[in-house]
Amino acid sequence: TGKFTYDPGFLSTAACQSKITYIDGDKGELLYRGYPIEQLATKCDFLETCYLILNGELPNETQRKDFVGRVTQHTMVHEQMQFFLRGFRRDAHPMAILTGLVGAMSAFYHDSTDINNPTHREISAIRLIAKMPTLVAMAYKYTIGQPFVYPRNDLSYSANFMRMMFAVPAEEYKVNEVLVRALDRIFILHADHEQNASTSTVRLCGSSGTNPFAAIAAGVACLWGPAHGGANEACLNMLEDLQAQGGVAKVGEFMEQVKDKNSGVRLMGFGHRVYKNFDPRAKLMQETCKEVLAELGLENDPLFKLAMALEKIALEDDYFVSRKLYPNVDYYSGIVQRALGIPTALFTGIFALARTVGWIAQWNEMLSDPEYKIGRPRQLFSGYAARDVKPIAQR
Ligand code: CMC
Repeated sequence: TGKFTYDPGFLSTAACQSKITYIDGDKGELLYRGYPIEQLATKCDFLETCYLILNGELPNETQRKDFVGRVTQHTMVHEQMQFFLRGFRRDAHPMAILTGLVGAMSAFYHDSTDINNPTHREISAIRLIAKMPTLVAMAYKYTIGQPFVYPRNDLSYSANFMRMMFAVPAEEYKVNEVLVRALDRIFILHADHEQNASTSTVRLCGSSGTNPFAAIAAGVACLWGPAHGGANEACLNMLEDLQAQGGVAKVGEFMEQVKDKNSGVRLMGFGHRVYKNFDPRAKLMQETCKEVLAELGLENDPLFKLAMALEKIALEDDYFVSRKLYPNVDYYSGIVQRALGIPTALFTGIFALARTVGWIAQWNEMLSDPEYKIGRPRQLFSGYAARDVKPIAQR
């Protein structure tokens, strides 16, 4: 391949050094800053995890309080954002709205635009983590035609988000701690995943020195695609379609389709590019799924039963076993989100909200690296050699 290594899809190119997230796909291991995801998901909340991802260490009590205080101070968005939002059609996809809103934040915060100043970078990180829930909830309320709900800073990060999503005027909104904890866990499990497509997008975009909100908007745009953040939406659609066609009774027939290479049908929520043993996030999500369905009295939820039936067959079937295909995080997160009342079209927005901390931490790490350069992939040129422009009459 001449001067350059040709590596489509970057299957074997490391574009950066990073100390943030470690994945061992064969062992099914995921560590944020050295801490196993299982421990973070059961012993910490999302904001502690954000602090860890951003700063490299878990906070002590004083640091935790200070961080929570700084995040809550920034949960409001500028009132003018509402006018911008109202310019969208009501039936716009929430990810279209979110890409626009996050990009628009770059037009509001002119006091922290020096990307070479660590204090400016930090304030942008806090603003993004604080405002994402407000923006996602606003995008949702707008598409269903309900009034926006302003943030309440006496509530936890996840409880405040649930309230902004589901509270309606003149009715008291009661926070359900089991559901809040489930949502918080979804956020923890999606907070970072090293150099995936959207994170690499944020790094590449940010490497030109662009405004941080613009770089994160690029990450949101990348995440939107069905091969990335859109998979949980696809998984839930698959379960709903199968349910409509007869549910558990049709599982065998459906599996035959999945195994038929010519059908083009995949078992969504199964398989992973990196995890070839199991996805540790899927195990945690399955537990959460059971807790949420029990709390809501939905143990007999037909979609959950269907998911369990499909999983059982797949885990015993040679097609899946021989290809090392196991459930990934999205297999269960869609069912949990649906039970929480989150509409399918918003699943990727929830993922974006959670991944924002990972994006901004990776962006910050890149800018702090003395070896950092603008990203500029090379190409293998396969077009014409030099040729002459002919007069238009001869073309
Ligand atoms: N259902 C049926 N067969 C599958 C599936 C599936 N879900 N996934 C992979 N295979 C087969 C595939 O046909 C191939 O078979 P063969 O070797 O006979 O040609 C083999 O398994 C390897 O698949 P691949 O597509 O080469 O593997 P990959 O590493 O390129 O793809 C994947 C990984 C996640 C894109 C793929 O497993 C998939 O499409 N899964 C369904 C979509 C999904 O759930 N995506 C969410 C990923 S997790 C979210 C995140 O971490 O961001």
